[in-house]
Amino acid sequence: MSIGTVHIRSFGCQMNKLDTELVTAALEQKGFAFTDQPQQADVVLINTCSVRRHAEERVLSLLGNLRHIKQSRPEMTVAVIGCMAQRLGAALLDRPEVDIVCGPAQIPQITELVTEVMNEKKKIAAVTDKIRSRSGENQVQALEDFEGVADFGHRQLPNQAYVRVMRGCNNFCSYCVVPFVRGPEICRLPKAIIEQISNLADQGVKTVTLLGQTVNSYKYVQGDRTYCLADLLAMASDIRAIKWLKFVTSYPQKEFFNEIMQAMADLPKVCSYLHLPAQSGSDKILKAMNRHYTAGEYLQLLDTARAIVPDLAAAGDFIVGFPGESEEDFQATVQLLKKANYKNAFIFKYSARPGTTAQKGQQDDAPEAVKKQRNNTLLGIQAEISGRLSSPFMGREVEVMVEGLSKKPHLNNAGNKNHPQLVGRTAGDYIVVFNGPVSLAGEFAKVKITKTFPLTLFGQLVSSSAGRRPP
Ligand code: 5AD
Ligand code: SF4
Repeated sequence: MSIGTVHIRSFGCQMNKLDTELVTAALEQKGFAFTDQPQQADVVLINTCSVRRHAEERVLSLLGNLRHIKQSRPEMTVAVIGCMAQRLGAALLDRPEVDIVCGPAQIPQITELVTEVMNEKKKIAAVTDKIRSRSGENQVQALEDFEGVADFGHRQLPNQAYVRVMRGCNNFCSYCVVPFVRGPEICRLPKAIIEQISNLADQGVKTVTLLGQTVNSYKYVQGDRTYCLADLLAMASDIRAIKWLKFVTSYPQKEFFNEIMQAMADLPKVCSYLHLPAQSGSDKILKAMNRHYTAGEYLQLLDTARAIVPDLAAAGDFIVGFPGESEEDFQATVQLLKKANYKNAFIFKYSARPGTTAQKGQQDDAPEAVKKQRNNTLLGIQAEISGRLSSPFMGREVEVMVEGLSKKPHLNNAGNKNHPQLVGRTAGDYIVVFNGPVSLAGEFAKVKITKTFPLTLFGQLVSSSAGRRPP
């Protein structure tokens, strides 16, 4: 018998997806069941993102809907967890529908918080007081324990797991709220990370994505030995059942860069995919963003990466309409985008975040129309580049890790009446859509590409396979 039903909504990055998986597993172990209908849930849990205002607005509008539901079902418990919970803290409890506010560092307490609120009908805020102080040793240990022991039965993608190698960020890019909601950078012990990956492999996991806000700056000093991400990749490669290793997100920095690229070239399990956000192509704007490189240095890093890993698939992030971004600055970004030859790029309109240096010191002076237009310009250029890079896949066989049923049916599905449309990803992070049996979810498969779009490849199933790196 379940002790209640939970509905979970998750916003934001892979870090949040991982936290959602951990929370789901913890609640399940406690005896909760799950529903995708908030109207039927005893507990609604929202894992939130604060990176842009829009992400927070979506949560606030969801909370508005929950307020209505709660009018007829006042016994329902609503928990706001994650970055927005940490950013807004107890103030969120002023909203009548919110019962629990739980920051990213307090996630290990989530089952206790939920049961306490359900039993005692009270409101609780559990967030970190001084998030940038390093005094919270107990908290770190609690996070470490939670991370290590949670049963990962609730992975969103079968046989694929995220493993955090570090928490927080010390970079303080001037626009970014992450250092204020996720706290200081702390690298996990190499042994704990590798043990966790080993346990995951024992549970059937085949692909692992190592996560960190600046994952390539991972550094752990133990006696006279310094471990970097390349060492983690080498140790994880020795775990037999793990077939693919990816890592996100990288910061454009020289330290460890060549070692990591060399690991990618030498270790067959490490996928040739590099997510390396540039944010801007203007040196003036990069400086104002407190990014520690110039556009030239950034492109030099990409060149180095490609010299070491010739089949590299790269992706980037950009922010348009940062305070003070002139047309000339924007054109510098256009130039960088054209030179970078990304497989895909994520483009965002600048959003002023409370408490960041950019928000405090610089006027958000780009009109929305300008942000929109620059956003569209970059998307257009990237679509052309993506199309150019994806078209040579035509007729080739690629190996994919199958994620499951395709959420939206693509194209005309009539060609195959026996099987539904599935979606998977190549080692280079290309999305591949093809017809096949649902039982392939979580398995590797060979697919022959019959149609290419800039961001999606379509194909026909050739066979399922053991999972080695494709060409
Ligand atoms: N406004 C717009 N985009 C942002 N990002 C981070 N902070 C902001 C902000 N305030 C983008 C960056 C980062 C990605 C995760 O989100 O491009 O790489
Ligand atoms: Fe934010 Fe910069 Fe840290 Fe990335 S590196 S999380 S953009 S502060």
